[in-house]
Amino acid sequence: SEVVPYRGAHQAGITTPAPQEAIFIAFDVLAKDRQGLQQTLQLLTERIAFLTRGGPAAVSPPKLPPPDSGLLGDTVSPDRLTITVAVGASLFDGRFGLQAQRPQHLSQMPAFPNDALDAAWCDGDLLLQCCANARETVIHAVRDIIKHCPDKLAARWKMDGFQPAGAVRHNSTPINLFGFKDGTGNPDSADAAQMNALVWVDDKDKEPAWAKGGSYVAIRLIRFTLEQWDRTPLGEQQGIFGRDKSSGAPLGKQHEFDDPDFAADPHGQHVPLDSHMRRAEPRQHGRHDARLLRRSYSYSLGLTKSGQLDMGLVFICFQSNLQTGFIATQKRLNGEPLEEYIKPFGGGYFFALPGVEGNGWLGQSLL
Ligand code: HEM
Repeated sequence: SEVVPYRGAHQAGITTPAPQEAIFIAFDVLAKDRQGLQQTLQLLTERIAFLTRGGPAAVSPPKLPPPDSGLLGDTVSPDRLTITVAVGASLFDGRFGLQAQRPQHLSQMPAFPNDALDAAWCDGDLLLQCCANARETVIHAVRDIIKHCPDKLAARWKMDGFQPAGAVRHNSTPINLFGFKDGTGNPDSADAAQMNALVWVDDKDKEPAWAKGGSYVAIRLIRFTLEQWDRTPLGEQQGIFGRDKSSGAPLGKQHEFDDPDFAADPHGQHVPLDSHMRRAEPRQHGRHDARLLRRSYSYSLGLTKSGQLDMGLVFICFQSNLQTGFIATQKRLNGEPLEEYIKPFGGGYFFALPGVEGNGWLGQSLL
């Protein structure tokens, strides 16, 4: 079926397969008090329930603005739409009396050494990640939510993302705009035990009780200097990632999913010590116990002010512990050779709300 159920112990859009199209949009909440926030989350849940299940588009008499944009015709098709709702640190600033409920690692995202963060592309009270098969489906969903929440949500930043069609069709690892397979080292999102250990907050994480079943989100908007990359020798490109460009195999190995043997390559003869994969996941004591579940999308805007392609990656990862997950990984990556070709300029830290069951609404356990 084309329906990805939005109900369950966890929200959809995290361990469910990544379809081709995405919109990431951050909002500030306009409500002044807890009751207003509750109404906002209830209304969001209602819209998500309708949009992800689909059905006849609402109609109105000609004197009123049409309640549905009409973009999907008379019937809204589910089209594997997921809308994942996450909250930012600013939601816990006191406006809603939620200071004591803040997940312990949730803060404003700091700038890492290679970052050039632009405040207009950062943070927000809420992040919605909308994913579906077709571009018009995610656009319809975002317009529907904005139309229904004019007095409740103010959009802050938005980025469109895409996955290569071939990867989605053949269920293979997507290739990013550098031309490398991206996602090979991911844990298996179909393995519930692994997801419980790595992705979903549970009692071991010592988080506020409401957060159980949720997950930390790190989203980073990263521009690539592709003109420069496209003039870089293949050997250098491969050394930067530590993988073969065509097969995706760790250098010195044959197949994409072969595990590199770093212990047998202590001087980085095959996989350079400063390569992205080796720094990201050094495998010093076997696989890291805080591996990230990455679910990134590529983006393509217009040109930068200096006339270069404005393209890159919407890096997004989910983990039950932001500190040992994204933050520790990013610290190991600081100073990596890849930095010559990338410039992170936006994003933020968020916490994906626990799932909703029965007639519940998103964020119910928080409020
Ligand atoms: C692996 C690309 C940013 C964490 C990889 C791989 C590629 C890649 C091609 C190898 C294939 C794979 O295992 O998926 C990029 C690009 C980035 C980027 C183009 C943006 C500029 C990041 C960031 C983090 C990160 C910001 C986290 C802080 C990882 C991890 C692996 C990985 C954990 C898996 C390593 C392994 O299991 O061997 N990345 N990455 N990456 N990357 Fe990135």
